[in-house]
Amino acid sequence: MAFRTLDDLDVAGKRVLVRADLNVPVADGRVTDATRIERQAPTIRELADRGAKVIVLSHFDRPKGKVVPSMSLKVLQQPLAEAVGRKVAFAEDCIGPDAEAAVAALKDGEVLLLENTRFHAGEEKNDPEMARKLAALGDIFVNDAFSAAHRAHASTEGVARLLPNAAGRSMQSELTHLDKALGNPERPLMAVVGGAKVSTKIALLENLVAKVEVLVIGGAMANTFLAAEGIAVGKSLYEPDHLETARRIIHAANESGAAILLPTDVVVVKEFKAGAAHRTVPAGDIAADEMVLDVGPDSIRAFENRLLATRTLVWNGPFGAFETTPFDAGTVAAARAVAAATKSGQVLSVAGGGDTVAALAHAGVEQDFTYVSTAGGAFLEWLEGKELPGVEALTAK
Ligand code: 3PG
Ligand code: MG
Repeated sequence: MAFRTLDDLDVAGKRVLVRADLNVPVADGRVTDATRIERQAPTIRELADRGAKVIVLSHFDRPKGKVVPSMSLKVLQQPLAEAVGRKVAFAEDCIGPDAEAAVAALKDGEVLLLENTRFHAGEEKNDPEMARKLAALGDIFVNDAFSAAHRAHASTEGVARLLPNAAGRSMQSELTHLDKALGNPERPLMAVVGGAKVSTKIALLENLVAKVEVLVIGGAMANTFLAAEGIAVGKSLYEPDHLETARRIIHAANESGAAILLPTDVVVVKEFKAGAAHRTVPAGDIAADEMVLDVGPDSIRAFENRLLATRTLVWNGPFGAFETTPFDAGTVAAARAVAAATKSGQVLSVAGGGDTVAALAHAGVEQDFTYVSTAGGAFLEWLEGKELPGVEALTAK
């Protein structure tokens, strides 16, 4: 992957547009998870320390091309200032006279946050006129928003093609780790894919099965695979329309020589609620009125055995209904095993996408993986092997 980094830029006295992803969860005006802000603050701080005029761009939520006051980025002004350790000015528009005046007032080393890029319809349309107006505000474009790189928008893709560009530190770190995990991994390589549905992860499973030595399937999607192998899954969540998809993936694994690890024992209940009466049974013994909520200890032991011979691991999605105790046991045990193997230096582990970060945090091992991506959809598209337009635009010139 050829992209420039901050090391390749001369930024003193320059107006540097930084595309951040400040799309963080906010409740009652407070940020409830500041991970993305903390990951992107170093880029802004470094640029300001090096004497740049730093202009921060981001989307926030999905206002769909209109000004929606409750989706203003103003709420992020103070949290960003605290994370960066500097005052942050705010402009009420990301293009046009307000933005231009605020940029013109910036001195070297100062930071400005512009209003939500998605208040303009041109953002999501990747309108060249919008990209041109954004580009007019800066001399250099730095993209630090890996988690928005799957969107070909004016502030992620369009503007990158109009200015000298580089990856920010967070983008650089994401790309470097993703490359170590799937681009050029040390082998054997294992992928863990959990979650509810096969149907939302077909492209991802097809891509991974061709690349890995071991594919571990967890979550309710494992039920679809069990059903595809002729195992009765009772009342479990599964996708009858995707038995053929599961068979195709099993076939692809046979062709490529990848091992697919499905649960051999499962935790079942008659009713899905916290603390429900449950039993652990071999996967072949699920009764007609039972549903699977987690993998059992034999499945975890098999996973741990495979892990012993693994050098690189990619993880997306939980093994079971981890939000409801005690059906978090499988996910927690597997996550802790990966954390231990990572700490001992045996495994390089990279996780991301959707529920994954919440599951690792629940297991208390968020800090113990080699890298946890801040991306949701972008991480999934990357696992699918898709080119991400925001990244492509950086490598293009
Ligand atoms: C995210 O939260 O995954 C990114 O900020 C992208 O947001 P979007 O799904 O609204 O494009
Ligand atoms: Mg989202």
